[in-house]
Amino acid sequence: MADLSVTFAGIRSPNPFWLASGPPTNSAYQVMKAFEAGWGGAVWKTMGLPVVNTSSRYAAIDSGAAKMTGFTNIELISDRPLSHNLREIEEVKKRFPDNPVIASLMLDTKEEWQQVVRDAENAGADGLELNFGCPHGMCERGMGSVVGQEPELLRLIVSWVMETAKKPVIVKLTPNITDITEPAIAAKEGGCNAISLINTIQSLMGVDIEKFVPYPVVDGKSTNGGYCGPAVKPVALNMVRNVSQSPFVGLPVSAIGGIADWRDAVEFILLGATTVQVCTAVMHYGFGIIREMTSGLSDYMDEKGFDSVSSFSGKALLNTVAWEDLNLNYEVVAKIDRKKCIGCMICYAACEDGAHQAIGIGKNGSRIPHIIEENCVGCNLCSLVCPVEGCIMMVERKDDQAPETWKERTAKGNVPKTFDDPLAGGLKHRTKY
Ligand SMILES: Cc1cc2nc3c(=O)[nH]c(=O)nc-3n(C[C@H](O)[C@H](O)[C@H](O)COP(=O)(O)O)c2cc1C
Repeated sequence: MADLSVTFAGIRSPNPFWLASGPPTNSAYQVMKAFEAGWGGAVWKTMGLPVVNTSSRYAAIDSGAAKMTGFTNIELISDRPLSHNLREIEEVKKRFPDNPVIASLMLDTKEEWQQVVRDAENAGADGLELNFGCPHGMCERGMGSVVGQEPELLRLIVSWVMETAKKPVIVKLTPNITDITEPAIAAKEGGCNAISLINTIQSLMGVDIEKFVPYPVVDGKSTNGGYCGPAVKPVALNMVRNVSQSPFVGLPVSAIGGIADWRDAVEFILLGATTVQVCTAVMHYGFGIIREMTSGLSDYMDEKGFDSVSSFSGKALLNTVAWEDLNLNYEVVAKIDRKKCIGCMICYAACEDGAHQAIGIGKNGSRIPHIIEENCVGCNLCSLVCPVEGCIMMVERKDDQAPETWKERTAKGNVPKTFDDPLAGGLKHRTKY
């Protein structure tokens, strides 16, 4: 088995898989069970000022193929007494000294922050995660995502914590913001040791159209919640990439958002993460998913010849560029495998009405469509809607043109200057009407 151990901001962990702060890390019972199952580390359910939670508090979107494709919650931070949480962290650390336990914190005043930082460290926490991300319930009280949205305030609070903290400090960011690098840079300026992202996305999950109330329902009323689970992974990947690529951040990243298996984890590591955190997938399937995660990651690393997680962390960043650096002379065209086609014509409907009219209906009453190559812009839509694996493939159109980006064309002045300039690529494609 490959060596999965990582060192994240000085915190050693037997593998990069950590439980994210949330219901699965609410008690010593759960965290110890998770470590026994093979989880590397755990970020404790956020501790802070006393709160009261609602019933109910969760809702989900089913994609049809999968339950809980998107998940939302209106839960607050831990509603257990701080002293119970701290005592249980101590118990876990005694039994599992090699598995990092990170204390997630959300406080208000400087005195509260500094006191609970000391308490958590005395309880044996290996690091601290500052929750500047929760987008419901706590932000209305001046905490959580409201801090993540105000770089000045964030920098100030991080500096309070850094005055006291002896253990590594991770700042957990909210995705409810336009440019994620702004709070990441503020966190760095405040002196923190690492960044984790993303917390949940502010959202309304849906509305009961009979009772006229959004989900989840609390005695006939609802409120905005925090969205997570597989549906948020693309948002998280992009934000992790932005933080990893920023020359002004340069801190270790713990990635969170929609991670459910080893492939998800590898994707985040390739975009610069060192550890990954999981919440919704454990709430759905339990701690046992860690077995597939560790063995899958290990097999992948063996197959690729990676001897450590750090050896491939960030490997996809070089290939993740600005739009203006993409090769405009690269073209693909759709090909339909007539033997695999089941004649459902969904590709025809999609291309005809929703794209570039590049699919013709089968001749002589046949339901097998064909590609009109001169109209095909290689957008992928037909291959995405096709229900048959491998039936529609995108194939490179070979020509002898050298690669050329928008940036290079602009430098040569070789770009469309008016709306009807023939240099505009779209004009070469015929439209029917
Ligand atoms: C029910 C629930 C409670 C959560 N509570 C916390 C919390 O107390 N502190 C925190 O930092 N994040 C909390 N989160 C956010 C998760 O840690 C994580 O950032 C988010 O759910 C995205 O990861 P996922 O897609 O794996 O769930 C909570 C998430 C859920 C679903």
